[in-house]
Amino acid sequence: MEQALIVNCSPVRTGATARIAGIIAQRLSARYAVHEVCIDDYRFGFCLGCRRCHDTAICVQRDGVDNLMEEFSCADVIVCVSPSYWADVPGQFKAFIDRCTPWCNTHEPHARLRPGKRGFAVALRTGPGMRECERILDTLEHFYGHLDIACRGRLGLCGVERREDVAGKINEIRQFCEGMIL
Ligand SMILES: Cc1cc2nc3c(=O)[nH]c(=O)nc-3n(C[C@H](O)[C@H](O)[C@H](O)COP(=O)(O)O)c2cc1C
Repeated sequence: MEQALIVNCSPVRTGATARIAGIIAQRLSARYAVHEVCIDDYRFGFCLGCRRCHDTAICVQRDGVDNLMEEFSCADVIVCVSPSYWADVPGQFKAFIDRCTPWCNTHEPHARLRPGKRGFAVALRTGPGMRECERILDTLEHFYGHLDIACRGRLGLCGVERREDVAGKINEIRQFCEGMIL
């Protein structure tokens, strides 16, 4: 059975992002072995910008990034679900993206994930405009692209402040999931 990894990019384990991740996990469990993680499950340092990984393809820091990347390695499908924090991904997730530089395909040597992984991006925000969601979705797609993960779908959800607000979006989320289980 293929594996799906659902990443809650919010540090809140019980909020709106977690609720959306849970709905996706439930739907995907019919087709995949699903594993849900939260960025707050991992402790890691910021990228130091030292660029040693440009020569070695390995970070000088050994910490929770290794564990989260192990989850990425195992997964066939990766779904990152991110809230808007100041019109961007939460700082914890951005710090993780920075630390993925050893896997970034713009320099040689670089670490590689197994080819053929499919990615999906989901963004949510409290405000009404989709443009801010698009910005976050662009960040996630950009991240996938540099890890050679093919982005196969994106979903933006506006007007979501709290967990309870997700109730009105369930059909939209389930519909989006159909594109993941083909
Ligand atoms: C620090 C912080 C910054 C936020 N910035 C924005 C923002 O710029 N635009 C927006 O529409 N919502 C913003 N929000 C609201 C969240 O996107 C929204 O409440 C989301 O549902 C939070 O999900 P979570 O509780 O799972 O983290 C912000 C929330 C927090 C905590």
